[in-house]
Amino acid sequence: MFVRRIAVVGTGYVGLTTGACLASLGHRVVCADVDRAKVTRLRAGRVDILEPGLAELVAEGIAAGRLRFVLGAAAAVADAEVVFLCVPTPMGAGGAADLAAVESVIHEVRGLLPEGCVVVTKSTVPVGTAARLGALLDRDDVAVASNPEFLREGSAVQDFLNPDRIVVGSDSQDAAERVAALYARLGAPTVISDAASAEMVKYAANCFLAMKLSYVNAVAELCELLGANVADVTEGMGYDRRIGQAFLAPGPGWGGSCLPKDTSAMLQVADAVGFDFGLLRATIDANARQRARMVAKVREAVGGSLVGARVGVLGVTFKAGTNDLRDSPALAVAELLAAEGAELHAYDPGVDPTVEMSGINLVEDAYQAVRDAAATVLLTEWPVFRGLDWARVAELMAGDAVVDTRNHLDPEALSRAGLSWHGVGAAPVHPAAPVPTAG
Ligand code: UGA
Repeated sequence: MFVRRIAVVGTGYVGLTTGACLASLGHRVVCADVDRAKVTRLRAGRVDILEPGLAELVAEGIAAGRLRFVLGAAAAVADAEVVFLCVPTPMGAGGAADLAAVESVIHEVRGLLPEGCVVVTKSTVPVGTAARLGALLDRDDVAVASNPEFLREGSAVQDFLNPDRIVVGSDSQDAAERVAALYARLGAPTVISDAASAEMVKYAANCFLAMKLSYVNAVAELCELLGANVADVTEGMGYDRRIGQAFLAPGPGWGGSCLPKDTSAMLQVADAVGFDFGLLRATIDANARQRARMVAKVREAVGGSLVGARVGVLGVTFKAGTNDLRDSPALAVAELLAAEGAELHAYDPGVDPTVEMSGINLVEDAYQAVRDAAATVLLTEWPVFRGLDWARVAELMAGDAVVDTRNHLDPEALSRAGLSWHGVGAAPVHPAAPVPTAG
């Protein structure tokens, strides 16, 4: 394998994982960020994001001399053969992706890039961005490629090192092949295309995942109305290899830093070329409705009005295994509950309880969250919640209803403890009648 000199600009989830993993594959990597304090922490091996295996890979890379951190993109690119752009592309005005950070890096480095290097977008960027960056660079000797990243938060390292596929697109076949070769050791199926198609893969995949989830959430709602059980339905569907078991779990709606922003951006892009992507619009609308539906379940569980009702909240992050609160459906539901007048006490194993949240009192453990609650609502599927002592929860709560928006808990265990379980796409399970004592 060729060892390449690589620069990674941006040390967020995608950038830091890319840098640390490429270093672990043997490449020599320099990661750049504009945040001086973060660079100092990373040089000392301190990783802020909760991501299994990442801190270890960073430490290994530093110790092996294959991974360095510098302040600013200019300091990273001087002798790079490949430059990865991993800066944020947040949702801008009207839902379109905001490319200001990517463009500002291009301006900063365009005169510094060595001849023959390849600039690669890894951040999710709208179709046509590689072409636009090529024009901004205005360098015949530097190619631009798109190499979308498909990692999920919470399993970023695992996903990066065991990808389902590698996608690289460039209008220079040679540049695309050089970028693809960086991953040769992973042995993953590789798709090499033009730049626009590679950019489209990422949006098409994320929008499809969002659509799959909105569909499943709608099926769950219908199951409730028709008396079917969504767990059996999705299991039965998932054995069809064309559908697959993954991404079929109903929940409080999909969120996080990617799916909401990418679905909006795709809708914008479609609108811009006069394509009415009704299917995608319905996917997004159904997601907003799903959150409202979860609020209604809690409202009903406390007797019809949330005004002054004390509610225990289990989980606020957008999914388990991360401390990320960006566009968290859990947080959105909690905020909607607070807006209707509920008094919320919330616990999340990934979030520091001293963090201030408007309308939500963070507490130090699940039992404090449920104390005196008229109802408890589980919003994030942290494994630790399954193992709670439900008899103790039942004793602490004022009411007996647990709304499980992820179908994460064992309804029978709750029922035995004298609690009622209210899931998604399934009939409620009520407290078991006490077993009569003999004699
Ligand atoms: C998502 C994609 O899964 C990654 O492939 C992609 O690389 C990434 O976006 C990105 O664009 O960077 P991520 O945002 O980390 O990854 O989160 P997911 O695991 O996809 O979860 C997204 C949301 O869907 C979460 O709110 C999660 O709770 C929800 N979800 C997921 C469900 O409600 N049910 C499921 O069965 C799966």
